[in-house]
Amino acid sequence: MSLLVTGLSSLVTNDPSLGEGPLGVIRDAAVVFEGSSVAWVGEASQAPDADQVHQAGGRAAIPGFVDSHAHLVFAGDRTAEFNARMSGVPYTAGGIRTTVAATRAASDAELSAGVARLVAEALRQGTTVIECKSGYGLTVEDEARALRIAGEHTDEVTYLGAHVVPPELDADAYVDLVTGPMLDRCAPHARWVDVFCERGAFDGDQARAVLEAGIKKGLAPRIHANQLGHGPGVRIAVELGAASADHCTHLTDADVDALASGDTVATLLPGAEFSTRATYPDARRLLDAGVTVALSTDCNPGSSFTTSMPFCIAVAVREMGMTPDEAVRAATLGGARALRRTDVGRIAPGARADLVLLDAPSHVHLAYRPGVPLVSAVWQRGHRVV
Ligand code: NIG
Ligand code: FE
Repeated sequence: MSLLVTGLSSLVTNDPSLGEGPLGVIRDAAVVFEGSSVAWVGEASQAPDADQVHQAGGRAAIPGFVDSHAHLVFAGDRTAEFNARMSGVPYTAGGIRTTVAATRAASDAELSAGVARLVAEALRQGTTVIECKSGYGLTVEDEARALRIAGEHTDEVTYLGAHVVPPELDADAYVDLVTGPMLDRCAPHARWVDVFCERGAFDGDQARAVLEAGIKKGLAPRIHANQLGHGPGVRIAVELGAASADHCTHLTDADVDALASGDTVATLLPGAEFSTRATYPDARRLLDAGVTVALSTDCNPGSSFTTSMPFCIAVAVREMGMTPDEAVRAATLGGARALRRTDVGRIAPGARADLVLLDAPSHVHLAYRPGVPLVSAVWQRGHRVV
């Protein structure tokens, strides 16, 4: 079954060989899907016939957003903590334990329904790939359960047993658990291993031990690094060839140089700085140094309770020195790179048919019209889902 989507005022392909500039923008464009893949892209006037036709009516189209960092398996609510923060109380890693208690007490069905709700919410805002971490269980059984539930909703599943030390254990005993029996139980359910390398969570030696143990079990590393202050996380990421170093809010020149010299993506999470009233990361500095940047939501109940990639784009443009083109690219192709995926984040022959239509004449409106629900249609693997 083939589908022609035509009448696009502009199409971001993220393939410079297909159109103008780094985004490979095609004006007056069309796309043909064949089953779950893109079969053809180009100018509408050249489009081949297809079994079905969707008239886009002059809307712009972009690849589906790739949200490469989210914590969706949780129960409970941290409104009170957010409220306190907005009256001046600082964010600390310790708040995670509030969600751990609520998550442990929840049933599988409650947790799964929560993930489904957030994945659907993200989809309505154009997100067609979303990564999901464990990290609010912190026992062998609760972490394995979180990963199993995450795997019901996405292929991008991350073992984050090392989110914070749970109240019932000391740090050394917990790192032994995370790198031993918990890893044995969790590795079959995950693609990635992650660790929160931060004061109040895990130090550099502990983070390295967690990631190396995961790598030995066949997981690929990513890391929460340099969110609340300077630290060794970013350099450990590059040293271990991690796919992504996430947050990157407090960076030294040596951190930026390390990122520029390796192939670790810097994933920036503006929702976290927004919701913790913190200083935003300097995306301009990273881009000017030649670092690959991704934008993601960090959706979680504590530091960033948003599923909205358009919101992250608008903040990144206004507050982090990104151009609208750079932000849209980071939210699509950047996310794909952070997940080491080549099938998503771009619209080109052979890519997955994940396309978002915007009620706007160009992708720039994602930043120009902040807070406005511009997503008018979404196709995922060639199926219309919104
Ligand atoms: O990415 N930084 C660590 N983890 C989350 C916060 C989790 C929480 O506060 O519940 C984050 O911001
Ligand atoms: Fe996070």
